[in-house]
Formats: sequence, structure tokens, C-alpha cells
Amino acid sequence: MRVLIVGGGGREHALAWKLKTDSPSIELIAAPGNPGIAELGECVAVAATDLEGLQQLARNRAVDLTVVGPEAPLSLGIVDHFRAAGLPIFGPTRAAAEIETSKAFAKRLMLDAGIPTARAEVHTEVGAAKAAARTLGSPMVIKASGLASGKGVIICRTIQEADTAIEEMLGGDRFGEAGHEVLVEEFMSGEELSVFAITDGERFVTLPALQDHKRLLDQDRGPNTGGMGAYVPVTLDAPSGQAERIIDATLTALRERGRPFTGLLYAGLMLTRDGFKVVEFNCRFGDPETQALMPVLDVEPDLLTLMTVVARGDGLPPTRARAQGVCVTTVLAAANYPETPRMGDVISIGSAAPGVVVFHGGTARDADGQLVTAGGRVLAVSAVGATMMDARRRGAEAADAIRFAGMQRRSDIGWREIARASGN
Ligand code: AMP
Ligand code: GLY
Repeated sequence: MRVLIVGGGGREHALAWKLKTDSPSIELIAAPGNPGIAELGECVAVAATDLEGLQQLARNRAVDLTVVGPEAPLSLGIVDHFRAAGLPIFGPTRAAAEIETSKAFAKRLMLDAGIPTARAEVHTEVGAAKAAARTLGSPMVIKASGLASGKGVIICRTIQEADTAIEEMLGGDRFGEAGHEVLVEEFMSGEELSVFAITDGERFVTLPALQDHKRLLDQDRGPNTGGMGAYVPVTLDAPSGQAERIIDATLTALRERGRPFTGLLYAGLMLTRDGFKVVEFNCRFGDPETQALMPVLDVEPDLLTLMTVVARGDGLPPTRARAQGVCVTTVLAAANYPETPRMGDVISIGSAAPGVVVFHGGTARDADGQLVTAGGRVLAVSAVGATMMDARRRGAEAADAIRFAGMQRRSDIGWREIARASGN
């Protein structure tokens, strides 16, 4: 069987690693892939957003299954293109992907369908948005509706901060087109959880939930990033079955609107005093959550089977999923990440440590074949252990052995879990 993975980040490396580990006989192709994925299969220099090039690649190489990692090709309609050409692909259509690509669409859907989420209004005019901010009161959140790589969310402590954010997005060009429509949203507080559901549009299976760490620095300080680390499993004391009810209601609402969602639905939930509320939906696997999940994911039937079934338009079989052990993933980020990550620093990884997988995110080979930094989140060190402490210790040792100039990393991934375990 030949599988094409679209994308070239840590998430795609983790998916490739899992598929290849479960089924060593499969032939992997990645577009564009990265030096880590190149150890598992063939990387072809076609960009993840080159839909025409990807379709040709899938057809010329008789690919049996295409798996899409990032949101960009989904937002461009890669699934619609492949389906029209009769090529099996795992992911949602462009219309279904709007659950991520338009926060305005997602918010209206949730409010209409009674799915718990923060109150919010959608605006395109500065004056009306400022008025909405005044009725909500501070703190509040101003969000760009479109795709902004996780950076389009501004938490405003005062009305003045909200006014500035609104002016920059609607009046100016901060976040470009993505910010020309905004959500003025109620501020929520609580612990966050990333829940992944594999779905055929109707039936679904949720995978073990994870916790991401979005801030750059320890103790959740510093700027927001795409994610500096994640762990699994999370033992939050959450209302039983509520996450599943949210997924179910969302899939139903999408079907009712003629946009059945197939592939991987990611619900970003916050456990508030009133139970779970949706912070956001994504139309794809999370990064770096996938790097934490894949090394411990035990799913029956296996991931390849589930993805193939969904890609072919068949119904999902009864499925059981659990985490086998604890995994802690620490992202090693480039100098100056998240603002303007520096590229070209030479990386030394050293030898493999037991129980540790190092996934490549932003790496490349230079003209001399040396591994160098080529993106913000360079590597993800995923360490598996019997306990959280075990996994953390292994991960820290492995990360200590990796070198590149200007490396930034957190040393406290999983701190909330440890605080919970010690009763603090
Ligand atoms: P999003 O891109 O919508 O997931 O937002 C990024 C991050 O901003 C989330 O993971 C939260 O930490 C934070 N955030 C988003 N919306 C809210 C909200 N309504 N209240 C508090 N924090 C929020
Ligand atoms: N880790 C957050 C995301 O993938 O959107």
C-alpha cells in the first residue's frame, strides 16, 4: 500500500512514524516532507498548497491513500479536488473545513446548535465592533476570523486594548484578510484540553485527550506560539461524556448544513465552572499534540485502517482507543521564535535514547548535507514513560543532548498534571 502524506512539519513526521511503525510494509511518500520523514519514506518537492502538483503525484504514483496534515491545503479544497478525481483522501472538504478557517462560521454554528462556547458577536465594522466590546466588558477576546497561525487571538484586559485590536484588524491590516472580520468574545478561564475525533461524518471515535502549552516560556509566560509542548493522558476531572456530546452535536450541525465533516475534527475545549466550552475547532490533527499522541496511541483497528475507511467514504467500524503509557513532548524552537525564527543554525541530534522519538518540524539539509534549522518549531522530543515523572526525565535528558544555537524550550511541560497529582 502506498500512502502520501501532505505537509512537512512535526505533525506529519509523527503521523508518518505511526503509520510506518504499525505497518512496516507500507510505502510512504511525503510532499514536501522533511529530513526526519526522509528516514521513513520518499520526500517529493511539491508544496503542501500545490493542489495540482499533489494530485498529479497521487495519480502518477498510484497512491492508495492521501493524508493531509496542515490546514492550508484543506482550506484550498484539496479534498474536493482529490474526490472529484476519484483519489481516496483523509480530510474534510473545503466547506467542512470552515469550522476552522472561519471562526465566524464556527461561532454561528455553535450558537445556533446550542453547543457550549463563549458568547460572541461577529463584526466587520469598527464602530459596531467597539460597541459590542463595550456591552461585553473587560477582559474580553478579539479574534481574527480567518487563519492566522494561532496568532489572531488577542486577550484584552481593558476596553482601550480592545479598541486598539479592533482598529488594527478591521481598520488596518494586522493579519490581512483574516482580520477583516472579527469576533468580539467573552473571556473564559479554565484548563484547556485538545480532543481529537476521527469521523466519517456521522460516527466518530475520540482519541485520548491532550494538553497543549501555548506560551513560549515556563509557567505559561511569554507570547503565544503554535504550541511548545504537550502531554497525554490528561486526568482532568471533567464531566463524563461531555466532550463526546460536543463532538456529536458539532458533526450533526455540520451535516444538517450540508457540510458533512470527514477526517479529524479537533475540539479545543476549556473546562470552565460551567463545564466544557469550545474555544475553537480545527479541521486537522494538532501540532505538537500529534507528536505526543502517536508514540502511545493504541487504537483498534489501527490508524491506517481508520484513515483508509474514512478516505474511501465507508462507515467507521466500532473502534477502541487508549494511551499506552505517558508521553511528554517538548518542542525545541529556533532563536527568535515566534516573531522571526532564525534559520540555518546547525543542529546536532546525537544518538537515539530509549523511549524517546525526535520528530522533525522546521529542519532542512544545507548544501553540505548538514541538518540546519528551517522553521520556528525545529524539533519535538517525545518521551514515553510509565509515569509522567519518568517521561519528563527521559525527555529532558534527550533534549539536553540536542544542540543548535539559540534553542528555546520549556522545561515544565505537564506541570498542571503534576500539580494535580500532588493535590495542589
Ligand atoms: P484559538 O486560536 O481560538 O484556539 O485561541 C488561542 C488561545 O487563546 C486558546 O488556546 C486560549 O488559550 C486563548 N483563548 C481563545 N479564546 C479565548 C476565550 N474566549 N477566553 C480565554 N482565552 C481564550
Ligand atoms: N496545538 C494547537 C494547534 O495545532 O492548533
